[in-house]
Amino acid sequence: MRALASAPAKTILFGEHSVVYDEPAIAGAVNKRAYVEITESKTDKSILKSYDLNFEAELDTKHKKYNLKRGKPGIIRYILEALNKVHDHSPIVMKLSSNIPIGSGLGSSAAVTVATLAALYRFHNIRFNKKSLAHDAHMVEQAVQGIASPLDTLVSTYGGLVYLSRNKKVEHFKVNFNAPFVVGYTNKHGNTGKMVKDVRLLKNRNPKIINPVISAMGQLTNYAKQAILKRDFDKIGELMNLNHGFLDVLGVNTLELSRMVYTARECGAIGSKITGAGGGGSIIALCPNSVDEVARGIAAEDNVLKIRFTRKGVSSRV
Ligand code: PMV
Repeated sequence: MRALASAPAKTILFGEHSVVYDEPAIAGAVNKRAYVEITESKTDKSILKSYDLNFEAELDTKHKKYNLKRGKPGIIRYILEALNKVHDHSPIVMKLSSNIPIGSGLGSSAAVTVATLAALYRFHNIRFNKKSLAHDAHMVEQAVQGIASPLDTLVSTYGGLVYLSRNKKVEHFKVNFNAPFVVGYTNKHGNTGKMVKDVRLLKNRNPKIINPVISAMGQLTNYAKQAILKRDFDKIGELMNLNHGFLDVLGVNTLELSRMVYTARECGAIGSKITGAGGGGSIIALCPNSVDEVARGIAAEDNVLKIRFTRKGVSSRV
């Protein structure tokens, strides 16, 4: 038996941080994926290996432990948690490959978790649907991280561009939104939990200033929804710039993120902003006519990735 699954990375286009206070958000699956293959092991050992991420480990699936043979597997705790949830502990060989850079703010852990669970369900012939898979993947992320928003695993499972409303209802955009974006990321990773906490403290100290900022972020996300439906790129770009300004007000900007945001605009991006929690991590720039220029500009000092939104969510087969 050979089971295969893959799942996409995600990026937040509008509404990070304000979504914590029940404002809407827009996030989408992008054309970078994690791939998982599971086969029976020819020995009595379970092995996990990844050539792309450059590691190999022997797994103790029952006790969520591993013995590292090579490399540094940041993502392994998600895989062990998923295995512990679904696998019967028979020896398997699991191969992971991914073109999502780890720590780039593109939700690599959610993509790996969703792909691992889908491959395991196929391997064991367990019936599942996207709703149950998104739920289980969220549980895995929560078990590993302590706290996790359901947005990453949801987008990674369903694919497409998603609007999350104030009352947490998910709407899928029907428009074909394949504009080119550039993601820039630094090697300095942000800590989502800490950034969320810092924003809360700032809000508590300055409620009369920060509360209106958060509700303006919600309002601009709703304008962005309309602009996306109309494929009005200039408006989307303008709203991205406004969203960035508000994220700066919330204190999640850094020197590196600012550098990338303004380099992108100087090189021709029509909008650019932090994506994700900030404090390190990534920016996203909308570049309908200047992808190569923006990518080159950011790459002079930071890491860069050209992306497009994709409708393709999780996919699996035996
Ligand atoms: O760190 P990321 O890319 O998963 O984004 C976090 C988004 C926040 O709004 C800051 C937190 C959340 O749970 O929604």
